[in-house]
Amino acid sequence: MRPKAVAYYKKYIWERGKMLEISDLQSGYGETQVLFDVSLELSQGSLHTILGRNGAGKTTTLKTIMGLIKPKSGNILFEGNNIAGCEPYNIAGRGVAYVPETRDIFPSLTVLENLELTATRFASPDHKDGWTLGRIYELFPRLQERSDNYGNEVSGGEQQMLAIARALLMNPKLLILDEPTEGLAPIIVKQIHEQLKALKETGLTIILVEQNFGFAVSLADEVSVMGKGQIQWHGRPDEIRTNREVQQQWLGV
Ligand SMILES: Nc1ncnc2c1ncn2[C@@H]1O[C@H](COP(=O)(O)OP(=O)(O)OP(=O)(O)O)[C@@H](O)[C@H]1O
Ligand SMILES: [Mg+2]
Repeated sequence: MRPKAVAYYKKYIWERGKMLEISDLQSGYGETQVLFDVSLELSQGSLHTILGRNGAGKTTTLKTIMGLIKPKSGNILFEGNNIAGCEPYNIAGRGVAYVPETRDIFPSLTVLENLELTATRFASPDHKDGWTLGRIYELFPRLQERSDNYGNEVSGGEQQMLAIARALLMNPKLLILDEPTEGLAPIIVKQIHEQLKALKETGLTIILVEQNFGFAVSLADEVSVMGKGQIQWHGRPDEIRTNREVQQQWLGV
C-alpha cells in the first residue's frame, strides 16, 4: 500500500478512538480452520467481553491477536499498525499483555520472584504513573501476604491475581484476560470482579473472555458473542441481558 494511504488510514482509526480493529480474520491450527471472518473493534479505555460456549473459538481469537498463532488472512490493527502475523514478543513490546487460561505461574519461584521477574524486565523509568510493586500490593493485598510462598503453594485465585499482576507490571495499553474466573470459588470471583472494576476505572483497555455471564456482562462496555468460530452477535451489555434468544442459542444461559 502507498505510504500516504497507510498514514491516512492510521489517522482515520485514531480519530475514531479505536485501539484495536480486527477485520475478516481467518485462523486455526495447521490445516484446521477455526476462525471464520472474525471482526471486532475495541475503543480506547473500554472493556470488551467475548462470550461463548466451550470450543467457540475464544482462546484461538486471543492467541491470534497475541501472535501465538499466525492468521491465514485478515488484519489486526493495534493503534493503527497491522500486527497480524507479528511475533508475540513484538506484540507484547507494543503494549499488549495476555493472561492465558493456564495462568503460567512459575511454580518454583516465590510470588515476589514471579512479580520481580516481570518488573525488572519491563519497568521503564519514564512510566511515572506506571505499575509498581507497591500499587500491585494495594490492588491485591493477598499477594503481599503470600509474597514468600512458592508459585505452587498458592491457591487458584491467588495464582489468577498473580497472573494479572504480572501482566500489569508490563504497563500494558491493552490487557487481555482469558477466563479469569474459571474454577474459582464465588467469593474469589467477587474479589476479582472488584479488582477488574478498579482496573477499568484507571482507564485501561481490556478484552475479557468469559463463560461466567453475570461476571462478564456487569463489567462490559461492549459484548461480542462467539459461536462456531464466528462473531454471532455484538452489542451493549443491557441488550444481551434481555436477549433470551441469543443467550439460549449461543450461550446456554
Ligand atoms: N492446539 C489445537 N490444535 C487443533 N485444534 C485446536 C487446538 N486448540 C483448540 N483447537 C480447536 O479449536 C476450536 C476452538 O477452540 P478454542 O480453544 O478457541 O475455544 P474456546 O472458545 O476458548 O473454548 P473454551 O471455553 O473451552 O476455552 C475447538 O474446536 C478446539 O478443539
Ligand atoms: Mg478457551
